[in-house]
Amino acid sequence: MKKLVAFNWKENPQQIQEAFALADRVEVNAKKYQQVEVVVAPPAVFLLSIAHRLENCQGVACASQDVSLFDGGAHTGEISAQMLSEIGVTYCIVGHSERRAMGESDEMVAKKLLALLDNNIEPILCVGETQKDSEDATWKFIETQLQRALPSVSASVVIAYEPVWAIGGDKEVDLEGAGKVVERIRSFVHETYPQLRVRVVYGGSVHAKNVSEVFDCGVDGVLVGSASLREKDVDIIIASA
Ligand code: PGA
Repeated sequence: MKKLVAFNWKENPQQIQEAFALADRVEVNAKKYQQVEVVVAPPAVFLLSIAHRLENCQGVACASQDVSLFDGGAHTGEISAQMLSEIGVTYCIVGHSERRAMGESDEMVAKKLLALLDNNIEPILCVGETQKDSEDATWKFIETQLQRALPSVSASVVIAYEPVWAIGGDKEVDLEGAGKVVERIRSFVHETYPQLRVRVVYGGSVHAKNVSEVFDCGVDGVLVGSASLREKDVDIIIASA
């Protein structure tokens, strides 16, 4: 199975030319390392332009950072799953901790996930404990998030394990702990949701210097925030996958 490298640009960059430069850097690397599947999640306002720019680049897909709960209608500021699908978006991040912090509940995450699947967009479902805790307490937290979000239909879903305390670009990463949780998520989903095809990736302060070790933990890929804005890191992360 190809390793997945997903770049979440969050609310960056501020200029479209910078976004093009980053997308071009991703494209060069994706062409070089065809054994890697690369996903780029630009801010919504740049999504269409980036999707066009990358449309002939095999091995790179575009993702949205969020989706509306609704199919359409009077919801100012929202973007439906169908609109995303219309412009060629094939992945979407849901339940990112930064959105959960702004009030996104497990119930909303579950609805968004279904809206995406109805429109053939593969969700990248983010789960992760907010504070460092014991192995048992951490697992209970994640298990609950999974149970509340995962659908009973058959589908492909990427699950991103992102301990919230490790997000920020330069935090310490507990590689051993991450490897254990990733494996536990994988076996839990296989047993409890056999109709789902899942890939489990890790996110939280992944960068050029630790990415090889992260891959050594048995993850199916990585979800990268801060380092996705640094061209050198982009090169090394894709090359390491
Ligand atoms: P980070 O963010 O790589 O900057 O820690 C990861 C994420 O929020 O997905």
